Amino acid sequence: MPSGRNILIILSALAAVQAIQPSAPDPIAAPLRDLKWGQLNFLHTTDTHGWLAGHLQEPSYSADWGDYVSFAARMREIAEADGQDLLVIDTGDRVEGNGLYDSSEPKGLYISEILRQQHIDVMSSGNHELYKKNTSEAEFLTTVPNFQGHYLASNIDIFDPTTGDLVPLAQRFKKFTTENQGIRIVAFGFLFDFTMNYNNTVVQPVEETIKESWFQGAVHDQEVDLFLVVGHVPVRSKEYDDVFNAIRASHPDTPIQFFGGHYHIRDCARYDTKAYGLASGRFMETIGFMSIDGLSTKDNQLRPGLISPVFERRYIDNNLFSFHYHTGLDGSTFPTERGLNVSRLIQQSRSTLQLDEIYGCIPQTLWMSRSPYTAANSIYAWLQKQVLPEMLNDESRPGKPALAIVNTGAIRFDLFKGQFTRDSAYIVSPFTSGFRYLKDVPYDKATLILEVLNKQPKILTASRDSIVSLPWSLAPPEQAAHHNLENSRDVHHDWSMLDMSTNQSPMYGDASPRLEVVPGYTTTDDLGADGDDTAHSQINFYQVPNCIDALTVNNGTVIPETVDLVYVDFIEPYVALAAKYAGLNVDVPRESDVYMPSTTLTDLIVHWVKDHWSCAA
Ligand SMILES: *[C@@H]1O[C@H](CO)[C@@H](O)[C@H](O)[C@H]1NC(C)=O
Ligand SMILES: *[C@@H]1O[C@H](CO)[C@@H](O)[C@H](O)[C@H]1NC(C)=O
Ligand SMILES: *[C@@H]1O[C@H](CO)[C@@H](O)[C@H](O)[C@H]1NC(C)=O
Ligand SMILES: *[C@@H]1O[C@H](CO)[C@@H](O)[C@H](O)[C@H]1NC(C)=O
Repeated sequence: MPSGRNILIILSALAAVQAIQPSAPDPIAAPLRDLKWGQLNFLHTTDTHGWLAGHLQEPSYSADWGDYVSFAARMREIAEADGQDLLVIDTGDRVEGNGLYDSSEPKGLYISEILRQQHIDVMSSGNHELYKKNTSEAEFLTTVPNFQGHYLASNIDIFDPTTGDLVPLAQRFKKFTTENQGIRIVAFGFLFDFTMNYNNTVVQPVEETIKESWFQGAVHDQEVDLFLVVGHVPVRSKEYDDVFNAIRASHPDTPIQFFGGHYHIRDCARYDTKAYGLASGRFMETIGFMSIDGLSTKDNQLRPGLISPVFERRYIDNNLFSFHYHTGLDGSTFPTERGLNVSRLIQQSRSTLQLDEIYGCIPQTLWMSRSPYTAANSIYAWLQKQVLPEMLNDESRPGKPALAIVNTGAIRFDLFKGQFTRDSAYIVSPFTSGFRYLKDVPYDKATLILEVLNKQPKILTASRDSIVSLPWSLAPPEQAAHHNLENSRDVHHDWSMLDMSTNQSPMYGDASPRLEVVPGYTTTDDLGADGDDTAHSQINFYQVPNCIDALTVNNGTVIPETVDLVYVDFIEPYVALAAKYAGLNVDVPRESDVYMPSTTLTDLIVHWVKDHWSCAA
């Protein structure tokens, strides 16, 4: 990179010019690793789930989408000054999971205008865009046109709401040449083999898509320097292995860059020496950076056997300290006018939606997986022992004990000590699922059903008489990525590799504060243990079961003979399958009924918080 990038610029105070949301905490000055630029560079977001305001309680992730707009613009300027290229990628699940998306009517009213302010070069849909009819229609009618020519849908069709015809959600693929280097790219946009979409969309299994003539035509093109496969697909998956093999069948040497997501983790997978895949976390915590050097270009064609590309990656913590450092800019030179406008738009939208309205005050932080699920500071223990037993109660079943089953994936985020706001409710429990129940189930059968649900996924998916083939997705997505969880336990991170002398913050100049190592991501992937831009101390994660249960009207003495088996309606197909295994002979969808009509898990949580966690104390 240009030598000027590490110039120290003296700036009085970080707080002087900021774009982040007014209530967001200042970032912490932490030791950073430099980016390694190449001919072609990428910025990547995935699974943002509406967190475009950034994290208002976590300094490490406190930058907002407006800051990211400025960051991408500044990074593009740096690339262009060196004759390099920068492409911005997003791989879906932009919806559901934060008040900024979920609390408007209709949902997403403010998000689409904010999102479109970023120049995104290649993007795809996630599964969350397709659960509901009107969500995928909003995608088709608003987001796809907003990103015309950049939004790719290689394996998704939709019934056009105006004509009723089944049409591609967006164009299948595209071919383009980068502006500065002249790199010829063929790009695809996939979704994993998702089956729980509403029936107005059709997701074609990836192994079928790669047999389509348009796909075969695209991969047989020999005038290609790089295949770019973006998608809402785990980078370690059968789907991406299939795409990799399909491309390699006609291109043994052409470099391939994959971008993926869905598991909410940082990861980089190596398919072979010329093909890598990056996954860039979740919830606007991570801006993935990837670079490739040694590529062929339209004016400089290398013999296939001589191509030996170099892939580099960094997982950038989404905060201004990192953004300023990597661009060599400071609080006054970093923000762009457009970026500042976007931050203001986010602020206005949050204010209109009253997302800072306070429902209560959280006395201590409750974790999803940073403490064992039975511990006093586990969000699951809190639900199991307090919220569900106290709040579940259907008027038509007075005094009838209920055994409630909630999948752990229904909870999406930790609850930090401090204010519990309208936004917190959408963040911790964004889904609109209500409850259903089966009447008078023998207690031992009900607990057996829970046990089956918590057994290895194999048991259910191996079922010969399985009603449908179900993907195993009851626990939080982070946990599905066993690879990463296992690694995170016992890998030693060698921070001596960091050259601390280059880590003077340009923001602070001589008045540099001590660099502080705070807990955060400590990623190990196929390129090593040096991927995170920020040096963090390690966080321990604990496994949680697929489902937790709670017994209501349990006055502690008697075990009931029968219970109402209550469950979150989203998991009904799984409960039906588990009931068969448990030997409960009922037709679950037919014999079950709505429990506490028009009440969601989120409603129960909010009522409980208002009743118990007053801020006055
Ligand atoms: C979809 O419909 C539901 C129920 O009418 C509504 O609450 C939601 O806001 C709609 N979502 C979108 C994206 O239009
Ligand atoms: C989709 O499901 C609805 C019921 O939710 C049904 O009425 C409709 O016919 C189905 N459409 C298709 C194309 O299968
Ligand atoms: C930023 O907002 C101002 C005021 O609304 C507007 O005049 C200006 O054109 C906007 N700039 C950009 C780059 O969007
Ligand atoms: C406990 O539950 C049993 C059975 O429902 C009931 O007979 C008993 O009165 C309850 N005891 C208390 C203290 O509520």
